[in-house]
Amino acid sequence: MEKYKLIGPIKQLVSLEKAHSKGAIKDEDLVVTEDAGIIIKNEQVYATGLFSDLKKKAQELNAEIIELDTEYVCTPGFIDAHTHICFSGSRANDYAMRNGGKSYLEIAAAGGGIWDTVTQTRKADLQTLTDGVIKRADALLAKGITTIEAKSGYGLSIEEELKMLRAIKKAESTTTADLISTCLAAHILPKDFDGNHKAYLEEISTTLFPILKEENLTNRIDAFVEEGAFLPDHIYPYFEKATAMGFDITVHADQFNAGGSEVAVKVGAVSADHLEASSDQEIKILAQSDVVSVALPGASIGLGCDFTPARKILDQGGALAIASDWNPGSAPMGELLIQACILGTFQKLSNAEVLAGITYRAANALNLTDRGRISSGMLADFNLFPTNHFNEIFYHQGKVLPSQVWKRGQLVFQK
Ligand code: NIG
Ligand code: FE
Repeated sequence: MEKYKLIGPIKQLVSLEKAHSKGAIKDEDLVVTEDAGIIIKNEQVYATGLFSDLKKKAQELNAEIIELDTEYVCTPGFIDAHTHICFSGSRANDYAMRNGGKSYLEIAAAGGGIWDTVTQTRKADLQTLTDGVIKRADALLAKGITTIEAKSGYGLSIEEELKMLRAIKKAESTTTADLISTCLAAHILPKDFDGNHKAYLEEISTTLFPILKEENLTNRIDAFVEEGAFLPDHIYPYFEKATAMGFDITVHADQFNAGGSEVAVKVGAVSADHLEASSDQEIKILAQSDVVSVALPGASIGLGCDFTPARKILDQGGALAIASDWNPGSAPMGELLIQACILGTFQKLSNAEVLAGITYRAANALNLTDRGRISSGMLADFNLFPTNHFNEIFYHQGKVLPSQVWKRGQLVFQK
């Protein structure tokens, strides 16, 4: 049965309805509706406009009217398009060693690095991993993140990658946020694999890919293209197979050395993520493509590295999304809004560009067309912030949190 609700009046509705997908955006370009309302029909937005106008419509529709008695700014629900929230263990020791001046190799020799998390994650059972994903997803939801991408990549064998992806799927049925899973079996060559990079990727694509389809575990394949992980020559045939089977491709690209972004463009990936090491050449080819560039400021903060050249990407006409990369190694903080605001200050991004990066441009990075903006037909995913101007949200760099989070037309968090 159809169920309508009208919510308002909202001091500022930042719907992003008409904001463009690529290139720079000025705050003045945002269409902000003052004293607005939103009519929800079941899970979706039915109409937006002035609250006073929508009231009449609401009566005709026999809608429940939810009157707000304080000033709120309404944004689309945030989307974290790149996380590794399925993991076990801590890498606090890596962090301390890194800040003490130890190199990547010294940390790995001391038992740290990605392989440490693989070891810990393999020890955890399905339910423990599932509980961890639910706990982290719920924490994100309370901060207004209504869609969360979550990768495997700490299993690195057929069974262990399946365990991770099954945990994410299981968590999806419990948490209110939408989880979008990605297979990152091509994270590093597992130490215990008896063979080279090529043989490992061959085994994954031949054995794991069909099971991913059968069990409907994911429609996205990721790879870490980097020296010490997988090189372009390893990864082209792997991505070709994935594409032929109908998977979307995403790439950990140009984190320490350039190379991955070119792969992303050549294979028609939906996104190229990291890009801290991208030069003008890579920025240009990305901007001319349909690949969404995803900045991961949490990894720059966690590792003490340069930020992704977000300003240049936008000025060249590229599409820029911003995600947290939440993982136990390079980005343990897991705070999307704080990190997006910090990237904004260092890269001189407008508030509109920051907001776009964690809403509809992040949806584009996940190939999702039903969210990220507040307009008729979109999912009714939105946040109400206790303030009277959207600038305040970014100015406070993540300290102002939503008082209400709405997901698929339901109030799912309130404080
Ligand atoms: O996105 N760059 C590769 N992978 C992760 C880090 C994973 C880890 O350190 O555990 C990243 O930063
Ligand atoms: Fe990552």
